[in-house]
Amino acid sequence: MRSSPVFLAYAKINLYLEVIKKRRDGYHNLETIFQSVSLSDRLQFFPQPEKVTMECDNETLARDASNLVVRAAQLVRTRFGVAQGVHIHLSKQIPIAAGLAGGSADAAATLVALNQLWNLKLNLCQLITLGLELGSDVPFCLAGGTKAGRLRGQDLYPMHAPVAVWYLLVHPNLHVSTREVFTSPLLRPTGETPFAGWTRSFRRVRRHFENGDLAAAMFNRLEEVVFPMHPELASIKQRLQQAGSIAAGMSGSGPTMFGVFRSRDEAVKAGQAFPDIRTSVVCPTLVGVNSFEE
Ligand code: C5P
Repeated sequence: MRSSPVFLAYAKINLYLEVIKKRRDGYHNLETIFQSVSLSDRLQFFPQPEKVTMECDNETLARDASNLVVRAAQLVRTRFGVAQGVHIHLSKQIPIAAGLAGGSADAAATLVALNQLWNLKLNLCQLITLGLELGSDVPFCLAGGTKAGRLRGQDLYPMHAPVAVWYLLVHPNLHVSTREVFTSPLLRPTGETPFAGWTRSFRRVRRHFENGDLAAAMFNRLEEVVFPMHPELASIKQRLQQAGSIAAGMSGSGPTMFGVFRSRDEAVKAGQAFPDIRTSVVCPTLVGVNSFEE
């Protein structure tokens, strides 16, 4: 097969996540701070006639239309009347159903790649609108970097990335269903009314964040739902705090937990406190999708 560009799809973490209210369409309005991090899946796209097919080095992942990558490609084909097909290679590094938006990142990379391959000339706004049809986190994965997100998470505003920060991600071997978390009776949206777009609480958090005070800014409302389901997550958070993190918390609907550290060395050292769990040491990235020629 001839060479084709490699696309890297970066994972995200939520440095802050508050649930404001349940909407009429069943989704929830959120206020969140997203951060892309340097843990990535790798994708390549090979033109072929008519069909969308994929292969993946992770046996547990479906390769049919239930896979977000295949759905993304089919969405682009039907929406823009593309006759060509594509064969997609996916190499997974981001844990699945882990609160890291791995599937959404892969879908975002697919939209970016097919926009190029099929010469559709869609701009970022158009890609984001398409992406939201695939999942709430796809718009952020297209935008990447450090962003404040509101509504379902698709209304994105740039923020300064915290400086001199490394993250230790701890990946417990659990699968958490985002849907189950958002429909749990334990979930208590704040109901706070935003003014000029954002709540008073979020304005306060944004000030802490922009001042570099991550310990004061970090919070995840979904911990109240997920920790009672999986008490070991609360203990991982405590162990991250004891291991010297500036702050620790859960990403998205979990189960990935993360700690914030001032240097790579400190994050690596803290990882030794989790000999029995997969961990990754990552830094912030400026983009959600990247590509290069091999
Ligand atoms: O959009 P996505 O498919 O990732 O969402 C998965 C599930 O998470 C939805 O079915 C919904 O129950 C819940 N969700 C929500 N509000 C959001 C994002 C997700 O209620 N903003």
